[in-house]
Amino acid sequence: MHDTNTEQLNDWDRRAVWHAFTQMAEYEPFIIERADGCVLVDIDGNQYIDGVSSLWCNIHGHRHPRLGAALREQLDRVAHVTNLGASNPTTIKLARRLVDISPPGLEHVFFSDDGATAVEVAVKMAFQYWRQRGDPRPEKTCYLALADGYHGDTLGSVSIGGVERFHAMFRPLLFHTLRLPAPDSYRTPRGVSPENLAAYHLDKLEAMLREHHRRIAAMVIEPLVQAAAGMIMHPPGYLGGVRRLTRQYDVLMIADEVAVGFGRTGRMFACGHEDVSPDLLCLAKGLTGGYMPMAATLATEEIYGAFLGDYAESKTFFHGHTYGGNPLGAAVALANLEIFEQEQTLAGLQPKIARLAEHLDRIGKLPHVGDVRQRGMIAAVELVEDEATKRPYDWAEKRGMKVCDSALTEGVWLRPLGNVIVIMPPLAITLEQLDRICDAVQRGIAAATGC
Ligand SMILES: Cc1ncc(COP(=O)(O)O)c(C=O)c1O
Repeated sequence: MHDTNTEQLNDWDRRAVWHAFTQMAEYEPFIIERADGCVLVDIDGNQYIDGVSSLWCNIHGHRHPRLGAALREQLDRVAHVTNLGASNPTTIKLARRLVDISPPGLEHVFFSDDGATAVEVAVKMAFQYWRQRGDPRPEKTCYLALADGYHGDTLGSVSIGGVERFHAMFRPLLFHTLRLPAPDSYRTPRGVSPENLAAYHLDKLEAMLREHHRRIAAMVIEPLVQAAAGMIMHPPGYLGGVRRLTRQYDVLMIADEVAVGFGRTGRMFACGHEDVSPDLLCLAKGLTGGYMPMAATLATEEIYGAFLGDYAESKTFFHGHTYGGNPLGAAVALANLEIFEQEQTLAGLQPKIARLAEHLDRIGKLPHVGDVRQRGMIAAVELVEDEATKRPYDWAEKRGMKVCDSALTEGVWLRPLGNVIVIMPPLAITLEQLDRICDAVQRGIAAATGC
């Protein structure tokens, strides 16, 4: 490939690669050839700060020596072992480690390869659990989820999801899901104060559960932050309330920590902020530090137990992915977790979280900034046409993208969600890099809003 010139690569990228979530008719090649720490380098040698962790997955920066070494060491042993009836030491150690660090009660790890599959696994496990447990409840076949939820792009995950612009097209193919409004701390219902927001939404949840609990297998939730919805942030107390009510009404709780897990919110898992142990926990993205496709669905003893029996009883979980539990992914995931300890990553976040808050405070005062919100190292700036009414810009005007296009010219790479500019850098970002990202966002907003 070394002799392929830039022009050739741009041309092939346009013609041969069909990019995800990208209108190919207007795609402009952005080709990253290498990276170092939190900086990406394109094929022309231009440098960009990775302001969104290469889509919310990079943790300790690119080309971390320990992560590279873990992969190389594993390559010298074996690159792949199936987990259909077989195992390998690295994957076993990772499963054990995940059980140790995850919320109490989650004892068994089912590996797959991406966030969507981790959710797909949880959804199917919940369904099968109710059919096979000692006191079966086969009528529990329905799921409860939040408006604007996003759980990935396979059909089960899309059925649970509720982002209209992504999901409406596929509705004829989807199973029905019961849905509650998102407990959005910015767009609150009329007459509901911030202090009462959690209680308001928990009342709605309780009413739903009271009426439908007999047929609900599980409630699926992105804890604290609904990422792809535009980093919608839930009020304190909501997550804990969901756990209390789902337990009370005998409905399983599936926590999708694909985006928020591994330190993003300031703690290892978002559930930890409200001492919540879900029945099923979905992990991906940051699991490998952003190095390899790998995902995990963790389950309780109670759920796992319902799948045990004689072979002929057919209680087996007939689900698997060729690369589930891949040893290379497991090796780098283990090293990722080691770095959290060695470098005291979580403790080191506090000054960065504070610096981000300072910047948001300033950005929040700019014209057309309707809201700035932050949870740990996840930050979002929402542009609106009218701040008083919170009326959004027409999404087709691509205001968020215009901010990011402007930032790119300053060497900062960001990817928006409609009118929301997302700032979600690797946890290894430096204060100076954070400053550069936020300053570029501020100038980008001026360019995109004409103010
Ligand atoms: C909360 C959540 N769940 C699931 C997914 C899907 O993950 P993947 O793209 O790895 O399939 C995402 C992706 O952004 C996500 O944010």
